[in-house]
Amino acid sequence: MNTEKLPAVSIHKLKQAEEIPYDLLLLADPYQAAIDKYLSASEIYIASLSTKVIGLYVLYPAGAGTIEIKNIAVEESLQGKGIGKQMLGHAAEICRSKGIDTLIIGTANSSIGQLFLYQQQGFEIFDIKRDFFLDNYIEPIFEDGIQCKHMIMLKKKL
Ligand code: ACO
Repeated sequence: MNTEKLPAVSIHKLKQAEEIPYDLLLLADPYQAAIDKYLSASEIYIASLSTKVIGLYVLYPAGAGTIEIKNIAVEESLQGKGIGKQMLGHAAEICRSKGIDTLIIGTANSSIGQLFLYQQQGFEIFDIKRDFFLDNYIEPIFEDGIQCKHMIMLKKKL
């Protein structure tokens, strides 16, 4: 992975006329049916470099004063260059501007890099949905030889 940092990307809310970038959504969540369940109630934010779509994140209302980032992804060839970090900062700003005080995000016990990134960006673990991936996904999933079983929930106070 080339970790040379990129210039700031521009981030905008997906417009109705724009195509939903499922290729990116599927990087973070392999099942389109699961994605479609939360997408209709969500806002999608697109990160682009010049005019090329290179990343996205999805905000989903999760109760009073709380929003969940349901999906965050960066095009594979551009991962590790600080774009995920920029999008997490942008999401926090958008939520603050909406009067939201808590941002939450969930990731698998096996997603070590993601757990690193979210905690580095001020998220703290507050819950574990045990066996979430065993109960909701048909095929077993492994990352770096670790079975993906539990959903680790993290939150950040804004
Ligand atoms: N392993 C180790 N460290 C990592 C990893 C990883 N897989 N991913 C990020 N990091 C660290 C980086 O080293 C960096 O730390 P540093 O600034 O101290 O060097 C820090 O986290 C920030 O990394 P970014 O470059 O900003 O992260 P990136 O642009 O790659 O975006 C993301 C992170 C969104 C997770 C991206 O790698 C991706 O799209 N992955 C595939 C899809 C995915 O797993 N999405 C998240 C699923 S959970 C959810 O959607 C709610």
